[in-house]
Amino acid sequence: MYTEYAMLIYVFKLWNGGRKAFMTQILPASPQNIELGAKVLKSGGLVAFPTETVYGLGAVVFFPEAVARIFEVKGRPRFDPLIVHIASPETVFSLWQRLPSRVEVLMEKFWPGPLTLVLPKKETVPDIVTAGLPTVAVRMPAHPVALSLIEMTGLPVAAPSANLFGRVSPTSAEEVARDLGNKVDLILDGGSCEWGIESTVILVEEERFFLLRPGALSIEDLETVVGKIEVTHPSPKILAPGMTRKHYAPNLPLYLFEGRAEELLALKLADFAILSPFPLTDNPENLFVLSSRGDFREAASNLFALLRKLENSSFRGIIALPVEKRGLGRAIMDRLKRASSGTVKIEEGRIVFVDK
Ligand code: TXA
Ligand code: MG
Repeated sequence: MYTEYAMLIYVFKLWNGGRKAFMTQILPASPQNIELGAKVLKSGGLVAFPTETVYGLGAVVFFPEAVARIFEVKGRPRFDPLIVHIASPETVFSLWQRLPSRVEVLMEKFWPGPLTLVLPKKETVPDIVTAGLPTVAVRMPAHPVALSLIEMTGLPVAAPSANLFGRVSPTSAEEVARDLGNKVDLILDGGSCEWGIESTVILVEEERFFLLRPGALSIEDLETVVGKIEVTHPSPKILAPGMTRKHYAPNLPLYLFEGRAEELLALKLADFAILSPFPLTDNPENLFVLSSRGDFREAASNLFALLRKLENSSFRGIIALPVEKRGLGRAIMDRLKRASSGTVKIEEGRIVFVDK
């Protein structure tokens, strides 16, 4: 079966621009190539595809061996469960045991979109997908390529972000290729991702809603629909599998700055990149601004791409200015914290790094 789709891809790649496409494994997300992607998935292969948040690395949820390969390719620990992606809301009936009415309201309002909901799973969902948990995370992405790929496959697709474990999530096909290269069967190129930050993950327990991972959809928006979203759960250990403290790590040490931006800039630390969410009055060459317009959405969409760009620079490290924990700012701050090696402050005019 493997050789069959390997052959299929080979032929398509020759049609699609020859040698270069073959070497990079990237194909433009044309209807024809999406159909090829669906064939690859149906025969047990792995396909990286764009979503509106970040790129995902997919396998059919009911093929445990294909799902196991996702973990291998990413170097991801088996205790970190995957999100199942669907193309129509009714599919939840094949994944969840039941659908509480308040969850239905959330689905109606925010799907397709960057919201992942975690509920008790049906027995047919393989344990490898949920890392042995009795619950399964599901989301319906809003990206047309993701939707048509899943639809053509005809089965739900388990997909984590398409990066190596511990690296920042990819927001373009080139970034996927840089991390996973020829370890995947096909990368569908749908351009850069609209949100650039992962979905918000919510656990539903009885009538209560818990935030497991802040993401593209703000809890303020969710709360307008279902009321209180709790940010801490009585048993934090079970709740955030895979959300290790240092998770979204760039290959360059990142320190969170505690203090006033002007004081930091006054030190003129030219060998460190300074990351600021919004423009500052001073504008030195080593300052990188996430949103020149001053909005969280633009800042979030640039965050991972900028961290990856800085990895290839000659800076010794990154110093990130804090972001207000409001709306999308909460997700940005969460990712910065996880990416960080520690904090940095100024004491008596000198810079002090504190590793975590
Ligand atoms: O935007 C996104 O969510 C992207 C795109 C590709 O859809 N996906 C993504 O997947 O970020 P991943 O695997 O990088 O992160 C999924 C996280 C897990 O690390 C875990 O914290 C949480 O979702 N998760 C998944 N299943 C869970 C479960 N059953 N219980 C609790 N948390 C779960
Ligand atoms: Mg991830």
